[in-house]
Amino acid sequence: MKKKLLSLMLSLAMVATIFAGCGKSGDTATTGDATTVEDAADAAADAVGNSDLADKKVGVCIYQFADNFMTLFRTELENYLIAQGFSKENITIQDGANDQATQTGQIQAFIADGVDVLIINPVNSSSAATITDMVVDAGIPLVYINREPDADEEQRWADNNWDVCYVGCDARQSGTYQGEIIADLGLDAIDFNGNGKVDYVMIKGDPENIDAQYRTEYSIKALEDAGLEVNKLDEQVGMWDQAQGNQLVANALSKYGNDLEVVFCNNDAMALGALEAIQAAGRTVGEDIYLVGVDALTEVCEDVLKGTITGTVFNDHISQADSAADAAINYITGGSNEHYIGCDYKKVTKDNAQDILDLLK
Ligand code: BGC
Repeated sequence: MKKKLLSLMLSLAMVATIFAGCGKSGDTATTGDATTVEDAADAAADAVGNSDLADKKVGVCIYQFADNFMTLFRTELENYLIAQGFSKENITIQDGANDQATQTGQIQAFIADGVDVLIINPVNSSSAATITDMVVDAGIPLVYINREPDADEEQRWADNNWDVCYVGCDARQSGTYQGEIIADLGLDAIDFNGNGKVDYVMIKGDPENIDAQYRTEYSIKALEDAGLEVNKLDEQVGMWDQAQGNQLVANALSKYGNDLEVVFCNNDAMALGALEAIQAAGRTVGEDIYLVGVDALTEVCEDVLKGTITGTVFNDHISQADSAADAAINYITGGSNEHYIGCDYKKVTKDNAQDILDLLK
């Protein structure tokens, strides 16, 4: 993003120089010089930041700061908002500490403070209707991120023509990609115990979260769609958390031993925990077990390159954060948004892990 902005600024500066040069060589354009250069400078200012946004207040609620993925998301969100012209001091980001009551209090405080827009990553997606009512009653536009409210709730935004939207990716796609990464290895490579099946454990994120539900379902569906027979040894809830992922996979390894062939984790944080457990048990990814996650955290892409994690799926926090900020700006400047703003996932294997790492720099 920073690179894009820099090159844009450089190009505009070059245009400004060329215009200034043209003016000087013209015999009647003496007054035009300044105007032209100013216009180009204004254009440059507009391109890197809309000064009208400098005094607008943005309230951001994150379900929990102690979440690797949401940390990447909120960092990009803040940087992008500033690049668009918001002042850093007018962007307030609150940590919901994974507690809906805490977050609801933060939303009420933002409303009392008269923020111009709210960007909310709800602790519980099922609280969305209550949140929407509060925010819409206060006349504040609202952009939900990362945890998608249900279809009935989204329908209400459309039916009432409210300034409310959701920005995120369809988690079915990420689950499908996880399953395909494993299916593409072929049964012979996966079936270490020779029972003709893919023996797996599933480590789930927060089960209230649609991403956890869809990734769990669609990763296995992709295996079955590829004609593979599956055998679920265990399914456990790791709440998106590395330490919990570690403990759950350690338990599964001691319980199922060499029969455990594939570990599916709904996200990369839990996959990193799983990897520690796999290594502690003396197992080797790619040789006697496989492991997949979702998000494409830098550390995990490095593991994928080394072969210590079989694959992951890029959950594009950059595009999601930028789209959420753009949607907020549209509302503030009197425009509108689609109620659902999507984004594609990308499969990450050894073949393209370096490309993703380059993108994350
Ligand atoms: C990410 C997880 C994250 C969760 C938070 C998911 O989309 O893959 O890493 O913990 O969002 O809601």
